[in-house]
Order: sequence, then C-alpha cells, then structure tokens
Amino acid sequence: MTASNVPTEVIRPEVADMQAIFSREALPDPYPLYERARQHGQVVDIPEWGAAALFGHEEINAVFRSPAALSGQQLEADVGQTAGAAGEGPLTDIQASEALRLLTPMMLFHNGPSHARLRGLVSAAFTPRVIAEQEELVRELVRDILSREGSREFDLVDKLAIPLPVAVIARMLGLSVGDEDKFRTWTQSVAELLGGMDGSPELIARIDRDAREMRDYFRDLADELRARPQPGLLSALAAAEDEEGRLSSEELLSNAVLLLAAGHETTSNLIGRGVLALHRQEGAWAELVALAEIGNTLADELLRFTSPVQLTGRTLGTPLEIGSHTYPAGTRTMLMLAAANRDARVFADPNRIDLQRKNAAKHLAFASGPHYCLGASLARLETRIVFGELARYPQMRVPEQQLAYRPNITLRGLSKLMVTLR
Ligand code: HEM
Repeated sequence: MTASNVPTEVIRPEVADMQAIFSREALPDPYPLYERARQHGQVVDIPEWGAAALFGHEEINAVFRSPAALSGQQLEADVGQTAGAAGEGPLTDIQASEALRLLTPMMLFHNGPSHARLRGLVSAAFTPRVIAEQEELVRELVRDILSREGSREFDLVDKLAIPLPVAVIARMLGLSVGDEDKFRTWTQSVAELLGGMDGSPELIARIDRDAREMRDYFRDLADELRARPQPGLLSALAAAEDEEGRLSSEELLSNAVLLLAAGHETTSNLIGRGVLALHRQEGAWAELVALAEIGNTLADELLRFTSPVQLTGRTLGTPLEIGSHTYPAGTRTMLMLAAANRDARVFADPNRIDLQRKNAAKHLAFASGPHYCLGASLARLETRIVFGELARYPQMRVPEQQLAYRPNITLRGLSKLMVTLR
C-alpha cells in the first residue's frame, strides 16, 4: 500500500460541523457555525456520538416539554468529559466524586416527583413578591458601582457584570457581604464544571478544593441559622430542612450553591455581551437611550440575542418523535438554545437586535418545561435595571479592543470589556 491509498478516517460533514461548534475557535462567534450545522436540518443526527443536535425552536421546545426528556442522566459522563475536555485525562475517582456529590442533589438534574419536591421547596422561598422587593437593592448597587467608576475607563465585566448578580443573590440568601470574593471564586468553579473547556490538573484540583470549601461553609451556616434564624432564603431553606424528610443537608447545600452559581455566569454574561452588542449595532445605543421605558421587552430581546446558556441537553427515557424521526430511548439530545433563539421561522431578521420586537419573550434562553429557569424574574429585573441605569449615559463608549472570552462554550461570555461612561 502506498501512502496515498492508506484509508484515512472519514469524518462526516455533520460531525465536523459539530466539532467546530465545540472548539475554542468558536468562542468569539459561534453563530455562523450554528447556521452551517443547521443546513443539515433542524435536527441533525450524530450516531457517532449517540446523539441528535437540535437547532430549531419548535423542535427544542417540544423536547423540553416532553415527559420522555430527562435531565441529569449523563451527569457522571458529562462531568468527567468536561474536565477531561482538553485531553488531560478524566477526573480521578475521588475528584469526580466530590464534584458529583455537589451536583447530584441539584434540582436541575432531577426529574418527576423528586424534581417537583426540590423545586417546590426552593421556589417557596423565591416568590415574585421576594423578587419585586429586590428592585431598590439592585438599583442602589448598580448606581453605587457606576458612580464609583465615574468618567475613567473601567472593565465592565469585573466591576459590574460579575459582582452585581453575586451581590444580589448573596444578600437574598442572607450570606455575609464580606464573603463575596469567595462566592465569586466558587461559582466560577461550578460554571467551569458545567461547561468549561479547560481540563488542566490545576483546574480540577481547584474545583475539588472549592467544592469542599462550599460544603463546609454552607453546613456551618445552616447549623447557625437553624439555631438563630435570620432574614433570607437560606434561613427559610434551613427551616424546610428541619421538617423531617423535606430537604436533606446535602440537598440544602447543593441547591443553595445552585442559586448562588446560576445567576453568576448567566446574568453577568448577558450584561457584558449585551452592552457590546448594543454598541456594535449601528444606532442601537441611541435607541436604548431614547426608550421611554426600559422593560421586559428589552431584557427578553437581549436574552434572545445573547443566549447566556448557549446549549443544554436531555436524554430520552422513552422513544420520542422529533421532526420526522423517532429516536430510541437513550438518545442524547443536544439542545442548541442560541440557535433556536436565531431561528428565522420564529424571529424576523434574527441576527439584529430589535428593541421593539413583539415576540421577544418567545426566546428559549431560560429553557421551557419543568426546568424553566427559576431565577427568570430576578434575571429580568437585574437586566432592566442595569440597562436602565446605563442608558443614563448616552455618550457611553466601548473602545476598540482585543476581546477575550471565557473558555466555556455553554455559558458563553466575555472575560473583560473595557468601557467609559462618558
Ligand atoms: C440571564 C440569566 C439567566 C439565564 C439565561 C438562565 C438560564 C437558565 C436555563 C437555560 C435553565 C434550564 C437549564 C436546563 O434545564 O438544562 C435554568 C435553570 C435554572 N436557573 Fe437560571 N438562568 C439565569 C439566571 C438565573 C438566576 C439569577 C437564578 C437564581 C438566582 C437562576 C436559577 C436557576 C435555577 C434554580 C434553575 C434550575 C431550575 C430547575 O431545574 O427546575 N437562574 N436557568
């Protein structure tokens, strides 16, 4: 055999397109890659991965709402895969068990009655009234940050987009304000666990250490709060834990961490990328400044456009018809939320921000079905207030700069964005 006729591995175009989506090169702008993959269909079969990738709004929505679609079935594989994504090898047993111990009790990975029980307990302490009461606090925090920065150039991600959601949820939970730097580090570890691309041994060791620290911190705090209840969600959750069989210590810990982490690299990515997108689109910042009222349409349009959670997954527990094909139980569905949010069958001129878009709220940025984002009203409130406050700076500038992205395709966001307010 000569070198020229040695058979080489043939990678089907569908697989090559999916591999491109999950590569580091995709981070600055995965949208053309979603469109390229979508040309194979709104549902693309990848039997090589035992999976189907979904790009269409209708198709993804149908999976979210189907009882056949289960969350958390591949947790073990996903965590190992995430941490080993850079080819550094999978997590060792002990490390994997520490990370998995933290993730397993999160409501996000439960289904049916077990999910309903966990979600019910947390949502009872997370009512619309509680959220509405945060308005003043959020506005005060944003104004304080912006006035501190004044007219100098500053990093919007570091000074506003990251600390704000952490400060808000920490206060809602009743956590100590002085510990915010710790929360920031921990929640970043959880985000990297859920969608990171860096599998270096240093990162894995850090995640493991942070998981232990979180466990100790929340266990001690829950003990204290049970003895001396304080205002805040965590006291309410600790009380729920007290009533036998309702919320175990592990469940309390993990779901408190979920609340702390869920708004961190989601709301913060929306703020950073939302500001950038509004400055990149000709006339959009002026349009924002001129809006009579900054309400949920703006928040929803920015959610649609930026999709802070770019994708998620479900495993089929029973066969399910998606599009024109019935997929067997065990199929992994990759739900490309960011692509659904630019589905031209639903959103006219999908690659443009339209601050008056009538159906902006149809986006799937918060998912749909039983796991619909529990923090959606809080995220909308924070977005409305942040952009309402920024709109008081008509001269705000985003100078030309080399943009840097976090190494995370799932929770996609900028790691830095230099801006000046005037
Ligand atoms: C822009 C901000 C946010 C976005 C885009 C977002 C997006 C999402 C998405 C897509 C899911 C479903 C994931 C899946 O089923 O695979 C979800 C679930 C969840 N989110 Fe959010 N989220 C945001 C902010 C928040 C905030 C601020 C909180 C709370 C403080 C929060 C708490 C949760 C919780 C607890 C769940 C799990 C719900 C369940 O499993 O029943 N999120 N979020």
